[in-house]
Amino acid sequence: MTQEFLDNQQYTELSILNYEEIFGHNYISPGGEKVADQFIRTLELRPQMRVLDIGCGLGGPAFRMAGKFGVYVHCIDLSSNMIRIAKTRLDEEGLNNMVTLEQGDCLEMQIDSTYDVVHSRDVFLHIKDKARLFEVIRKSLVSGGRLGFSDYCLGKTKSSPEFESYLSERNYTLHNVEDYTKLLENSGFTNVFGEDRTDIFIKTLKQELHILEKAILNNQEKSALRQVWQEKLTRAERGEQCWGWFSGIKKTQ
Ligand SMILES: C[S@@+](CC[C@H](N)C(=O)[O-])C[C@H]1O[C@@H](n2cnc3c(N)ncnc32)[C@H](O)[C@@H]1O
Repeated sequence: MTQEFLDNQQYTELSILNYEEIFGHNYISPGGEKVADQFIRTLELRPQMRVLDIGCGLGGPAFRMAGKFGVYVHCIDLSSNMIRIAKTRLDEEGLNNMVTLEQGDCLEMQIDSTYDVVHSRDVFLHIKDKARLFEVIRKSLVSGGRLGFSDYCLGKTKSSPEFESYLSERNYTLHNVEDYTKLLENSGFTNVFGEDRTDIFIKTLKQELHILEKAILNNQEKSALRQVWQEKLTRAERGEQCWGWFSGIKKTQ
């Protein structure tokens, strides 16, 4: 996945702002602030901790972690459109002393034993080489540090041709929850936990379909997004697509 692909296809400035209409201010992931809060609670954050947010998007989850828990968050995102908008949002939030933003590919990070927590929401679907991803993340964590992420996953029902073409158009690489969990265990993480949270995903998609109808978007934009949301909902209800929440602790050497 390249920066050009993200900036010119899925995350043009207009599509980011349209997605935000549905997910909520500063969010580009299911459930916006409400689900972010639910997810962040699983990370056991304490004041002064150092957190890395991979694929931070517009910064919503990072602002929430810094603002509510007093942690320092470094954010990295490959899309220059995301980072440009996130910088204006960071100024609005007045959290410049707690949150830093960097445009770059997380696979290229060379960070050793720095972060207490790595947080990531619905980003790894964009990354094919998960073994390399988990190696880079493992290195960046202090011994005993925690990785927590959510991601789109494959469900137990065989993928339909429509789902296959959705994945290939977007260049997504998904795993099922069990494989993801094994991959984490094989990548130097312990206390690994993988949970199918498609229940939250389905509930959220239904709520977002209502939000969409009231959003300030033109009819063409609304109808395109409605179709994407309805298709996600159908795949999730059929068991083709699911949504996983994962965590693991870096093994002490
Ligand atoms: C669905 S959005 C999620 C944004 C944010 N985490 C949130 O919850 O609002 C996925 C983000 O991952 C970023 N991304 C994709 N591949 C990446 C990579 N290799 N390194 C860093 N960021 C990446 C995209 O640019 C995009 O901002």
